[in-house]
Amino acid sequence: MSADRIQGVRGMNDVLPADEALWQRFEDTVAACMRAYGYHRIRTPIVEHTRLFVRGIGEVTDIVEKEMYSFTDALNGEQLTLRPEGTAGVVRSVIEHNLLYDGPRRLWYAGPMFRHERPQKGRYRQFHQVGLEALGMPGPDVDAEVILLCHRLWADLGLQGVRLEINTLGQADERRAHREALIEHFQRHASELDEDARRRLHSNPLRILDTKNPAMQPIAESAPRLIDFLGEASLAHFEGLQSLLRAQNIPWRVNPRLVRGLDYYNLSVFEWVAADGLTLCGGGRYDPLIGMLGGKPAPGCGFGIGVERVLDQMRAQAGVQPGSACDVYVVHQGAAALPAAVQAAERLRDAGLDVITHAGGGSFKSQFKRADASGAFAAVVIGDDEAASGEATVKWLRDAGAAPGEGRQQRVAMAALAELIVDALVAADPDA
Ligand code: HAM
Repeated sequence: MSADRIQGVRGMNDVLPADEALWQRFEDTVAACMRAYGYHRIRTPIVEHTRLFVRGIGEVTDIVEKEMYSFTDALNGEQLTLRPEGTAGVVRSVIEHNLLYDGPRRLWYAGPMFRHERPQKGRYRQFHQVGLEALGMPGPDVDAEVILLCHRLWADLGLQGVRLEINTLGQADERRAHREALIEHFQRHASELDEDARRRLHSNPLRILDTKNPAMQPIAESAPRLIDFLGEASLAHFEGLQSLLRAQNIPWRVNPRLVRGLDYYNLSVFEWVAADGLTLCGGGRYDPLIGMLGGKPAPGCGFGIGVERVLDQMRAQAGVQPGSACDVYVVHQGAAALPAAVQAAERLRDAGLDVITHAGGGSFKSQFKRADASGAFAAVVIGDDEAASGEATVKWLRDAGAAPGEGRQQRVAMAALAELIVDALVAADPDA
């Protein structure tokens, strides 16, 4: 009787080798983009104290109310949570290590995040984010910088049709005045409010504007606008961002209902939205957060990109060539050939080549099938005969330009093997 099969957790996906070339291309492009703008990578733990997220993200948010994977550490009673986003952990780390002691910081991160949402296309329970946080810089120039970085990233990834929406959330006192006007407006429509809205009416009425309920749209549309409650400084900050975007020819749309799902934001917020309506990236300014988490108050601004959503766009738009798995596949047969094959493979790797050594036995014919399927440039064949004479047979598997020609083979002294293959590879692809 065989044991029952254990499946992966719903909404948490394996990334299989077939997708590796795509992930690699995304990650390399992100790293180059971050470097181009002076951002340095930071890696924080996947688990943090629950209260970090409750205080940072806000008690009355979808994430904290119903999406966090929280648990009690049975060994010491600590209340812990799998991070649902990256900003709170990065800010905690910056405070803990006093990273702002000598001036502003530009940081970026990448890794898995966890939210207990209903899985569907582009929405998972374990997903990946790439994010950045620009800390200690108060001006709209930094808001523009992080938006420009994103814009460059889409271009470098070959993505088209990703549109930018921006809004301003002003400052806390401005939002308070707006909030009172909002509550008054929603109270006037009390009988038309859905359950979510009624619950949020006093705790977080701004989030009612974010409602996806079609029946609520007219009430949300006709609500008082925050922008009409903003003072001069907030308006100037927003105009400062827009004039920098204008100067760089970045198109955008002001979406007055863009409020974001986390409570730490103030002033500029933005989202990059794909043609299919999914948000690829969300972010904005969060000047109160460092103070809220017990640090010496300092401004901050950043974004998070949903990696799976961007990869979906890349699959649909940009097309990615699968990378070849290796340069050389070593075929061998006979007891004396095995140590010679292992030795040859190690020397080839010393020369910088990627090498698979056949394992598991089998006829030459079946081994050659594997060599072909591996995508290797050449097979190195070692039988007892080659082993005895300190030689190897090289069989060229791909007919690539100046390379020796598919199907041809030649015998070569072991000592000259690496040079022969490296020269042939370079001749076939001088950029490799
Ligand atoms: P967020 O809008 O919650 O912001 O998430 C950022 C992005 O992560 C979303 O736009 C989306 O692409 C992706 N995402 C979110 N939830 C899921 C999910 N369940 N499955 C797949 N993708 C998802 C933040 O997390 C902020 N920390 C961003 C930020 C950084 N703001 C300032 N600094």
